[in-house]
Amino acid sequence: MLKVEDLSHFYGREKILDNINFELKDKSFTILTGESGSGKTTLLSIISTLLKPTKGRVIFTDISKNNSLDTIRNRYIGFIFQFHYLISHLTVLENIKIVTT
Ligand SMILES: Nc1ncnc2c1ncn2[C@@H]1O[C@H](COP(=O)(O)OP(=O)(O)OP(=O)(O)O)[C@@H](O)[C@H]1O
Ligand SMILES: [Mg+2]
Repeated sequence: MLKVEDLSHFYGREKILDNINFELKDKSFTILTGESGSGKTTLLSIISTLLKPTKGRVIFTDISKNNSLDTIRNRYIGFIFQFHYLISHLTVLENIKIVTT
């Protein structure tokens, strides 16, 4: 289960997320909707550990605290980016290899 507690986020002085609380149950399917600029990508970036929230926390209740952040990212998080920055003249394999070489 994933739990979001008292989560707020600012970019500079601008408050983007204001004290958000929710839980996602295992194997559930959730859709996040909102107007452009409402903070969807910001929230997903925080949940997926790519961005540290200004306030509050994200708890993965079923993942051992002994795991490193790298392990949690590798094993438990998948993220398809809104802006993927793939290089169009390269193949899929070449795009993947470029970050590992
Ligand atoms: N790195 C950043 N620095 C400063 N402001 C940012 C940054 N990223 C996003 N913002 C601002 O924060 C607000 C929320 O942006 P976010 O990208 O989270 O919204 P969104 O709901 O994903 O929008 P969209 O539907 O257009 O993808 C917007 O006003 C945006 O301009
Ligand atoms: Mg977005």
